[in-house]
Amino acid sequence: MNKLEPMKVKKITCIGAGYVGGPTMAVIADNCPEIIVTIVDIDENRINAWKYNPINELPIYEPKLGEIIERVRNKNLFFSTDISESIANADMVFLAVNTPTKTKGIGSGQASDLSMLESCSREVAKCSRGHTIVVEKSTVPVRTAEVIKKILDANLKKEDSSNPQQTFSVISNPEFLAEGTAISDLNNPDRVLIGGDNELAIESLADIYSHWVDRSKIIKTNLWSSELSKLTSNAFLAQRISSINSVAEICEVTGANIKEVSKAIGLDNRIGKKFLNSGPGFGGSCFQKDILNLVYLCEYFGLTRVARYWQSVIELNDWQQERISKLITENLLGNISSKFILILGFAFKANTNDTRESSAIQISLNLLEEGANLLIHDPQVNSKQISLDLRIEETTSLSPDTNYNNKDKGKWKYVNNLSNSFSQVDAVVILTEWEEYKLIDWKKVTKKMRKPAWVFDTRLLLEEKNITDAGLNYWSVGNGR
Ligand code: UDX
Ligand code: ADP
Repeated sequence: MNKLEPMKVKKITCIGAGYVGGPTMAVIADNCPEIIVTIVDIDENRINAWKYNPINELPIYEPKLGEIIERVRNKNLFFSTDISESIANADMVFLAVNTPTKTKGIGSGQASDLSMLESCSREVAKCSRGHTIVVEKSTVPVRTAEVIKKILDANLKKEDSSNPQQTFSVISNPEFLAEGTAISDLNNPDRVLIGGDNELAIESLADIYSHWVDRSKIIKTNLWSSELSKLTSNAFLAQRISSINSVAEICEVTGANIKEVSKAIGLDNRIGKKFLNSGPGFGGSCFQKDILNLVYLCEYFGLTRVARYWQSVIELNDWQQERISKLITENLLGNISSKFILILGFAFKANTNDTRESSAIQISLNLLEEGANLLIHDPQVNSKQISLDLRIEETTSLSPDTNYNNKDKGKWKYVNNLSNSFSQVDAVVILTEWEEYKLIDWKKVTKKMRKPAWVFDTRLLLEEKNITDAGLNYWSVGNGR
């Protein structure tokens, strides 16, 4: 390789076959037919599902992902559990493992748990050969690349006849895709950010993206700017949601209407109309984690006021979930113990099967705590995932025809068939904006519900008139009367 020219990458390995690694590598493979891409993971079930499942049963649900997998699977996109061999063969290794919020030790509840990232960095140090470009893809706290570099540098192996001299360049390439729109976000990004101090490594990655992204959209920064941009982009987006949710509460008491107010705010070009939908609070694997990370970073540097500022974005989000749970109880005559509530949607937003930090989790737990019986439906989330999230087993039978006396917490049951699930329920709560919930025939289902019955629309998904004409009470977020 000429030292002054970027490496022409022929083989990529991505560690982590999740919501980031899966779609990102599928799109790279689709746009770069000359590059062999292998995704590896320690989770054998997940790899087998990517490898063998029909395209409508891939481990993650993402619109348009199936079509791409069909085109590239076993052509230039491969899945494997043989992590060491895949690393040894790769010119470029993406790290796309999860970095959840720490649950114990220093920084518990705020800092990211980097153990997964550390263990795969060690694997790269052990197995790579010759020069390897290591791309940090997971969302990480600022200065994480330093941890990766330290691990790699401390483990450099000496050159011998069977092993060329190991060298590494670590660059950061944060992922800005949103779940549910991952494929279009990846194929048509607003920008691609590459941070690092090695020009050639940055160029090698820029060359890959330039197969389908205009060079003017590929932005090069230093490592720390790249890491901080990712955290703060998410913090800004989350802040908009907390802001609009705070306005929703004001609308409810003043008689203003949040849809009208959001539209009026968003028409100001400086503000823009996106991310102004009021809802049950933001969820997903990024927003809460990234803000907590930012708060931790600020506290670490003694920026107490700044830390408090960002912390308040999270507090408002928690409040949105709490107040929605409370007003459901209040409207149902102040008591939901033993009543039946149908929860529509458990994913953190529509078009994904991801439930991480979904508002549905906390709202369901609050209702169960009050003694309500929940029937839970989601078109893409299965019952096993819901029991893991609630940490409560699904009950074997839950029938509105039986009289329950929930002295303690309520029970929950998964709903397979939506049309059969309205019988004797006191309330329906829309928590995820799935299109299919728009198609519910309220005139038909109202006959089955127990009166007075309510529909709580936390996503502003339904037409109020359709509900009230059916003789049901309707509450929607940010709608003052
Ligand atoms: C987010 C960022 O958008 C993405 O750039 C980053 O890479 C990862 O984090 P994601 O978590 O997949 O993506 O979903 P996003 O569409 O941002 O939604 C996050 C949460 O905010 C969802 O719970 C969604 O329902 C909520 N939301 C979003 C609102 O309540 N109102 C809005 O107007 C927009
Ligand atoms: P994200 O949304 O960031 O993609 P996911 O949890 O969907 O997060 O995916 C991360 C993947 O990384 C998981 O499938 C997990 O099994 C995998 N993973 C975690 N640690 C390692 C590791 N040390 N080596 C290989 N894969 C790992």
